[in-house]
Parts: sequence; structure tokens; C-alpha cells
Amino acid sequence: MKIAVLKERRPNETRVAASPETVGKMVAMGLNVIVESGAGEASSFSDAAYEKAGASIGKDAKAAAAGADVVIKIQRPMIASEGHDEMAVLSKGQALVSLMFALTEPKYVGAMAAAGVTGFALELIPRITRAQSMDVLSSQSNLAGYRAVLDGAAAFGRAFPMMMTAAGTIPPARALVMGAGVAGLQAIATARRLGAVVSATDVRPAAKEQVESLGGTFVAVEDEEFKQAETAGGYAKEMSAEYQKKQAALIAETIKKQDMVITTALIPGRPAPKLISADMVKTMKPGAVIVDLAVEQGGNCELSEYNSIVRKHGVTIVGHANVPGRLAESASNLFARNILSFMSLLVDEETKALKIDPEDEIIAGTLVTRDGAVVHKDVKAEAPGPAKAAPAGAKKGAGAKKPARAAKTKAKKE
Ligand code: NAI
Repeated sequence: MKIAVLKERRPNETRVAASPETVGKMVAMGLNVIVESGAGEASSFSDAAYEKAGASIGKDAKAAAAGADVVIKIQRPMIASEGHDEMAVLSKGQALVSLMFALTEPKYVGAMAAAGVTGFALELIPRITRAQSMDVLSSQSNLAGYRAVLDGAAAFGRAFPMMMTAAGTIPPARALVMGAGVAGLQAIATARRLGAVVSATDVRPAAKEQVESLGGTFVAVEDEEFKQAETAGGYAKEMSAEYQKKQAALIAETIKKQDMVITTALIPGRPAPKLISADMVKTMKPGAVIVDLAVEQGGNCELSEYNSIVRKHGVTIVGHANVPGRLAESASNLFARNILSFMSLLVDEETKALKIDPEDEIIAGTLVTRDGAVVHKDVKAEAPGPAKAAPAGAKKGAGAKKPARAAKTKAKKE
């Protein structure tokens, strides 16, 4: 069985779907691995390191993908309507394993079905115990939460810890983390390690104990609706207008006192909840920093701008795209291990051939297209649309226009 690792071409994507470590493990499993030349460059993995691990190197995407049973990637392939057609290197019957945003990006599902590709969407991996080692959303959100604090600290003109010096005392920074899921909990831990006084908010009651166990203070509207806000799958529900009003009043009071606000709040399949209004930003301390990790889903702050750092009303608002990609090597290492673990479900132990068992809960949860059709109950396809002229740079594989602000979709077990 042959596995192809392709270089990512979407803007801001620095990660790669296999590391020399996971290539070595795939080779040890009896698989044949071919890596596109330069695929690991932005993650500090050289072609030579992959070769040493037992891979061969393909000179371009077409050469790498040719004859592969499974193509692994971080991001869904670009399609012709984006000006650069990565889908064109895939062939009928080939399996593709990557993030696909399948619930919110039906065009790509349509393109995969049209190409006859067997598509597995990694963001749909069910959050069950057996799949924990494959959970790319968790591995990447954890790093994003850490990096958000570092990005915030770098944009902040004051120190985080309390410092008692001969020249006087610097008070500790006050940080508020909004959304205490995987990214938020890591942000709390990181901000605490840097010496900040941390509080956090969420709409799920389970978050309270987790925040407190990390030494944070929990701030939330704890009414009847709050008690019901968690789905069976552990995700947040969209809150009522009445709750949102009460929450906004509480946040308005809390935010005035903060030096740093890290926002991570998401609702699966929906735009990110708007938690910080322009009026709230106006009340913040001059020099305060907001880091909006939800910016790819529309942002938790009304004033955040996608992939920009802006200063508004004296407050710096950081809205980097692809925050895990800002720690490319760590993010790739973890993502690659998640994929390796997922791959073990696709290999027949005896024959070493590709095996797709639709009875397996993880396979059924992630398999989106097969034999030209959409096979997932929650996923819809749309025609991929006409091709656009390739923008400058696309030939060199530099990527094309600004990406769609793809929603991070979630596998829901509600
Ligand atoms: P997420 O990325 O979907 O959302 C981030 C956080 O935002 C969540 O904690 C959510 O409750 C919060 N949020 C949503 N709306 C909000 C609002 N209006 N105000 C404040 N906060 C709001 O969530 P993530 O990080 O993916 O994790 C969700 C849950 O899944 C957590 O309980 C986590 O522990 C659990 N989980 C379970 C796993 C497993 O069983 N294998 C693996 C990973 C996470």
C-alpha cells in the first residue's frame, strides 16, 4: 500500500501531514511512503530527513500522488474555482485523508465526489475514547491556546508577572479567557505560568471545575439555561437572546479590568458567538490586548480582523489566521501522529492493503465520499463551480487567493 504526503498550498498553511517520525512508523508497518519534495520545509523537516526515515521523494504533487492508495494532507485540496486545482492530482478510487470542513464547505465535497475520491474528513472524528489519539481538533486547539497567550504577551507593553524590583513593584497582568474548551484551558494554564491573574468564562457548567482546577476564577451567568448548555457530545449550544444579554452585561463589567483577553468560544457548525462588542472595547484599559482565536469563524470580538493585528480605541486586537501553524513543527508532529493513528484503521494487518470498514464508528463518522457519491448522513455536496484564472504564484505552488473563512466544523455526538 502506497501513502503520498503532499505539500500544503493554501495561504498561511505551514504544517505537513507526516513527520519523519511517523514516516518511519508507517514504513515499519509495511507501507510505502512517498513525500512531495519540500512538503516539510515550513515545519523544519527536510527531504533528507524523510528519506532517512524510509520515504522516497516525489518531485512534485503529481509525481508523489501517482499510484498512491492514500493521500494524506492537512487541508482539503484547493479546487479549480480557487484558481489552483490541487484536486486534479488525485485520481479515481484514491483515498484522501485531511481536514475538509465537510459540514460547512459542500463545494469541496462535490469536487471530491466528482473526482471519485474516497474522502475522510478528519474534523469529523468522533470524540470517543478510542479516537482520542486521532483527535486533530484537540491536538491543534491545545497548541493554539498556548500560542495565543504568547502572541498576546508579545503585543502587550507590560509584563505578565508581578515583579518587585528596586525601582518599584509591577502588578501582575489580569487575563480573561473566554471559552474554556481545549484551547481555553491551555490558554489559562499558559497565562498562569507567565504569572498573570486569570479568570475565565464559558457557558458549559463542566468548565467551572476545570477552570478552577487550573487556578483560574470562573465568571459566568449561572442560571437555569447555563445548567442545560452542554450537549451530550460535550459541546456548547447556541444560547438564547436573553442569556446573551445577561452574559454581555457580565462581560462588560469584567472586561474593563482586564489587560489581556483571549477568546476561543465556538459553537459547532455555527458562526462564533460575538462576545465582545465595539462598545466594550472602548471601555478597556489603554494598552490592553485581545487575541481572537475564533477569527476564522467570524470572531468573538466585533472589531477583530482576519489575519491582522489592529489597534482600536487604544486596544491591540490580534487575529492571526491558522494559529497552530504558527508553531509549525509542534503542530505537524502532533497532527502527523493523529493521522498515523487514524491510518492504522485503514490498513489490513495481514495483507497490508487498504481496508475500509464502514461498520467501524470512526470510519463511518469520517467517510464523506466514496465511488462518486456522498456517503455521510450529515454532509451535503455542491457543484464546485467554474475554474478561475490561476493567480500569480499559483504555478510555483505558492497558493492562491485568501482562503474562504472556513468554519472549524465539529463532529457532534449530540
Ligand atoms: P469548541 O472549540 O467547540 O469551543 C470552545 C469553547 O467555547 C467551549 O468550551 C464552549 O463551551 C465555549 N463557548 C461556546 N459558546 C460560548 C459562549 N457564548 N460564551 C462562552 N463560551 C462559549 O470546544 P472544544 O475545545 O473543542 O471542546 C469542547 C468540549 O469537548 C470540552 O468539554 C472538551 O473537554 C471536550 N472534549 C472531549 C474530548 C474527548 O472526549 N475525546 C476531546 C476533546 C474535547
